[in-house]
Amino acid sequence: MVLDNPIVFYTLVAVSIFVIYVCIILVGGKFLYGWTRHCKSRTRLFGKTVVITGGSTGVGKETAVDLAERGARIIITTRNCTRGEEAVKEIKNRTGNYNIEWMELDLTNFDSIHKFATRIKQSEIRLDILINCAAIVDFSTTNVTKNGYDYIFATNYIGHFLLTYLLLDLLKLSVPSRIINVSSVMHMLPFDLDLKTICDNGVKYPGLSGYMVSKLALVMHARSLSQRLTGSGVSVFAINPGLVKTELYIPFKSKMPTCFRKMLLWYLRKISLTPKAGAQGIIYAAVEESLQGSSGIYLDKSKVVDGNKLTKNEGLCQQLWDMSIMHIFSKKTRRNFVWCLFEESQGKGILKMVALSKICEILPKDYGYVILVGIESTFVNMWLAYNVGAARKKYEVKYPVMYHKEDGHVFNCIQRAHQNTLETYPQFLMTLFIGGLQYPRISAGAGVLYLLGRILYAKGYYTGDPDKRWWGEFGGLGFFILIGNSISFACHQLGCFTD
Ligand SMILES: NC(=O)c1ccc[n+]([C@@H]2O[C@H](COP(=O)([O-])OP(=O)(O)OC[C@H]3O[C@@H](n4cnc5c(N)ncnc54)[C@H](OP(=O)(O)O)[C@@H]3O)[C@@H](O)[C@H]2O)c1
Repeated sequence: MVLDNPIVFYTLVAVSIFVIYVCIILVGGKFLYGWTRHCKSRTRLFGKTVVITGGSTGVGKETAVDLAERGARIIITTRNCTRGEEAVKEIKNRTGNYNIEWMELDLTNFDSIHKFATRIKQSEIRLDILINCAAIVDFSTTNVTKNGYDYIFATNYIGHFLLTYLLLDLLKLSVPSRIINVSSVMHMLPFDLDLKTICDNGVKYPGLSGYMVSKLALVMHARSLSQRLTGSGVSVFAINPGLVKTELYIPFKSKMPTCFRKMLLWYLRKISLTPKAGAQGIIYAAVEESLQGSSGIYLDKSKVVDGNKLTKNEGLCQQLWDMSIMHIFSKKTRRNFVWCLFEESQGKGILKMVALSKICEILPKDYGYVILVGIESTFVNMWLAYNVGAARKKYEVKYPVMYHKEDGHVFNCIQRAHQNTLETYPQFLMTLFIGGLQYPRISAGAGVLYLLGRILYAKGYYTGDPDKRWWGEFGGLGFFILIGNSISFACHQLGCFTD
């Protein structure tokens, strides 16, 4: 018998063990990753608008198809115009819904994100669902974006952070609305998150490079944002769609030998879901009514599960949030938010920041001059107070005595110059800041005139001859202009000059 030959026998045993082993791995892998529950929700989305980043291929495109079938207006994003047109055509053909559009968006470029958000805010009156789906996974890339970030981290996380922030107002106007961060089971792998600043090669936050960390950051973002939006009607979810056969693997290069890489890719493809099956979890997060009120959860396909332990670390989530906020704004814009960032730890920072940025938008730019004059006035007051202090020493008038007992004494004149300015100081500030809202330059000019008047008034008074205080009389003109400006603003507010 052939089997009597030990070489043949052991070869057969070895081959059988290998085949069984491969089958177990395949079946096990398929069992673990290759199944999903189909979304059974019948929710219709007529009149709703959905934005899907990276909706030109893969899971994003299949999500777009399903939501289009439910009647939603769909906007998918891509960096490639041909891809966008083809995807829109395919979605229209497959669903019969013609309310589909593509728009250009490159998440590695802050300018592109701002441009896209502005376009959306100009063209859409509502945004009901934002799906942050675009991603890259190329483990070999060491590229750095224009804004200095690791390429993967920028595409998958920081770009989406900025986009979400910019579209938040519109989402709030369309409540109940949803934000869905498409993460991955890979987010479970990092044991730590290194938030150290610039490293030697200039990449911002090098510890945050790589696919796994970017996906972890997305789950942490969903959690942090959901806390900040409590009670607003905007829900935020993070989701792992499962292992899916898509283009995500195609540029999959790594340092491992080619044959192993090919085997791994073959294996992954064998056990993966189809894009349609992979989209089910995202669709579930987008439309399932029972999820309303569960903002902040992490879903594995359509099952609510615990994410990486790090996502429960409030301190770390806060640090990541702060770091992200600091980096999505330019230095100049950030200065406007300094004290609002301080409020971040109270959990309501984002709302306060929106409010402050609105104030900055509403106030005229020239209001800065008004503020500077207000500051100048404190220096004038300090100078007057200093002179009183020096005169006290010189004429030996001890506190708390206010005036020298001798009438018409120089000390009394110096003291009066200060007192008199203080008596009108609240009115000055009130009229300066109120009138300045309407006519900032005129108010600032009038303020300077008034302050110069106060200085000459004091100088005249300091001579010891009270009549000479009238040197600063012209300051009164500045004060009258300020009063006039404030009255004008009051009338404007009351609508006195309108029909
Ligand atoms: N496939 C999986 O096994 C798997 C597993 C877990 C999680 N996920 C997650 O599921 C999501 C979808 O993955 P997928 O498999 O469908 O990927 P995919 O087919 O490769 O699609 C990725 C999309 O991202 C867009 N994109 C890439 N770089 C971009 C950039 N710089 N700016 C804007 N868009 C960019 C691409 O758009 P253009 O090239 O047209 O611009 C493309 O539409 C990803 O978040 C991924 O992490 C996937």
